[in-house]
Amino acid sequence: MRIFSGIRPTGGLHIGNYLGAIKQWIALQEKNECVFCIVDLHAITTPYEPKELQKNILEATAIYLAAGIDPEKSIIFVQSEVKEHAELAWLLGTITPMGELSRMTQFKEKSKQHKDYINAGLFNYPVLMAADILLYKSQAVPVGKDQEQHVELARTIAKKFNLNFGKIFPEPETILPKVGAKIMSLTDPKKKMSKSDDPKSCISLFDSPEDIQKKIMSAETDSGKEIIYNVTKKPGISNLLTIYSLLTDKSTQELEKQFKGKGYGDFKKALAKVLIDYLEPFRRKQKELQTRDVYVKDILNKGASRARIIAQSTMQEVREKMGLI
Ligand code: TYM
Repeated sequence: MRIFSGIRPTGGLHIGNYLGAIKQWIALQEKNECVFCIVDLHAITTPYEPKELQKNILEATAIYLAAGIDPEKSIIFVQSEVKEHAELAWLLGTITPMGELSRMTQFKEKSKQHKDYINAGLFNYPVLMAADILLYKSQAVPVGKDQEQHVELARTIAKKFNLNFGKIFPEPETILPKVGAKIMSLTDPKKKMSKSDDPKSCISLFDSPEDIQKKIMSAETDSGKEIIYNVTKKPGISNLLTIYSLLTDKSTQELEKQFKGKGYGDFKKALAKVLIDYLEPFRRKQKELQTRDVYVKDILNKGASRARIIAQSTMQEVREKMGLI
């Protein structure tokens, strides 16, 4: 299968991004042809600092590599380096109903969050995302729950293109992780963990051991004392149990047994330790890659060249079908 996924290089990538998306990619790259993108054109639809963008792109690449994405197996590249993304987005925009775009939850949320930055790029964001996916004729898209609606729209757009102009595109399926598709905020476990929120609400993949310890110890818990998985009654502890379970491959039932009779404090201390150890390679890789810019840029250049070959061939077909040549 051809698989495509991406992450916005907005800085502060967190364990939600990792557990919801990247962790799935590692397993998928073994048996599939994977294309993993750093979607800088999406990152500029919300307020950002141009001077920080290149640093954030390199940081996102460091995360992909530290997590175990193998540039020999998978294609890793930066979206804006392959111009066909923007071209296909324009063409797909001509068959995307405005009504569909205005239904998108992420557009509504981001427009509320950045009231004086509601731009056409933000509105068209899902069309560019459909272009990302369809340009590579991808069959599946591993993402967290919040991106499911966008992948469904990409399916709708693919169907419509095929119907109007002739079949080119597969209809891409969403791959959601069984557990971890929506990691919740540490300070408000009813909201999803998000990089645009208070830093205390998320564990960044590069957080120092001290910060991880502090954030976990002060994470919102629930009334009562027991370590029990129950999302409605104990959303805070359940979210922490989910994180613990995903990082240790122990089920939440096993963890309930392990922490029977222990309090929230003991459980949180143990979780902080698990996180600190788990994220150690990320901190190490970040330091190492900070001094190896040339190596990282070389990976991205090679990735872009490989991506371009597929993208250019799809665009040739698209232009023909649409009567542009
Ligand atoms: P982005 O950068 O917001 O998030 C990257 C990935 O992380 C997942 N994610 C989460 N998963 C679980 N719990 C959370 N709290 C959490 N927060 C984020 C997201 O679902 C996503 O999989 N539009 C996309 C990027 C994109 C893309 C694409 C993805 C652009 N083009 C094509 C797939 C295919 C985005 O903003 O992701």
